[in-house]
Amino acid sequence: MADTASPLFAPLQLASVSIPNRIAIAPTTRQVADEDGTPTGEMGRYWARRVQGGCGLVITEGVYFADRWNAKGYPHQSGICNRKHIDAWRTITDMIHAEGGIALMQLQHAGRLADPLYFQDGNPAYSASDTQSSGYVIFTDSEEEKELRGWTDPLPLRRYEPARALSLLEIEDLADSFARAAVRAIEAGFDGVEVHGANGFLIDNFFNSAVNVREDAFGGCPMKRANFALLVCRRVRQAVGAEKIITLRLSQDRIDGLQDHYAGGVAEARDIATALKDAPVDALHWGSFGWDDNRDPNSDEIIPAVMRAASGKPMIVNGGVHDAAAALRVLESGAGDMVSVGRPLFANPDWANAVRAGKPPAPVEFERKWVITPAT
Ligand SMILES: Cc1cc2nc3c(=O)[nH]c(=O)nc-3n(C[C@H](O)[C@H](O)[C@H](O)COP(=O)(O)O)c2cc1C
Repeated sequence: MADTASPLFAPLQLASVSIPNRIAIAPTTRQVADEDGTPTGEMGRYWARRVQGGCGLVITEGVYFADRWNAKGYPHQSGICNRKHIDAWRTITDMIHAEGGIALMQLQHAGRLADPLYFQDGNPAYSASDTQSSGYVIFTDSEEEKELRGWTDPLPLRRYEPARALSLLEIEDLADSFARAAVRAIEAGFDGVEVHGANGFLIDNFFNSAVNVREDAFGGCPMKRANFALLVCRRVRQAVGAEKIITLRLSQDRIDGLQDHYAGGVAEARDIATALKDAPVDALHWGSFGWDDNRDPNSDEIIPAVMRAASGKPMIVNGGVHDAAAALRVLESGAGDMVSVGRPLFANPDWANAVRAGKPPAPVEFERKWVITPAT
């Protein structure tokens, strides 16, 4: 092992679980589940192969968890709604554990980015407030997607329906729905769950001052905008107990706003993290396309470092951590306790072992495709 890389290969204890090293597979949706949300063996092979290649922790792609709530975000997204899903996930967690990896399921509700193709029973998309995403231009090489959406242009505008604000009663119900999904994930063999609070999906709609204009306990200052995430994490913790891992994913980037930033800059990031001090989570997970890019012209502080200090929580840091030097800088700068890696692992399943051996990992070659076909 290269000496310089050694801190990355020390175990990390979260809840009652010892993770063998500090390199996680970042959540990356590849849209290869069956159309009814059942995860496939190919997904298990993808993750197990990367654990074999040296990663200690798998964080799955964002998984929708209930039909009733219009949680689903796109075709071929995996789900955790029923017995069939649980049994298929069990095969996958067995494959990951057999390689010595630890597995978290990322629980996602798409919020105002719910896919109208899957709306149930005439229900609308749900969000923090009455709102509608302006969508985004998407590249698609998929004949299936073009047909599903009636697109002819290869660079169409992906549109969303108007979303309606959740009532206080619905907020409670939905937090319970997250918790029941977490129980199903544990039944499927996961060591814990990641609550997806990032990227423009439901929980992030509450964090986002441009979307959340509520005047009750769930809207207003950053502390109040964090209350929905806090409620969900509390319900999930009650449901899964103290032994299992819970992480909470946060970001400034959004699917419909890749360069979005906190309106209040780094100060807002600090306020949000302070609000999460008492959250019953074992770690926060900063998601980004550039982990040290704070997008705040008035500050040179690194957001995950600020949030780690303000929350007192371990931090998993993601985004552009594409070589050993960057991964070590995350740990040594105090920004994080662990890194998570997305695109490099599409290209190179042995990325973590290459880092460990002191060999420069293969460069990332990535182009957005409908379905990500990884190296094996
Ligand atoms: C194809 C693709 C799918 C993604 N799916 C998810 C997801 O399901 N959940 C999530 O939190 N982030 C998702 N992300 C964001 C990644 O976790 C990560 O933040 C991003 O790829 C930057 O990290 P990297 O530089 O290591 O790739 C996705 C990114 C890509 C490229």
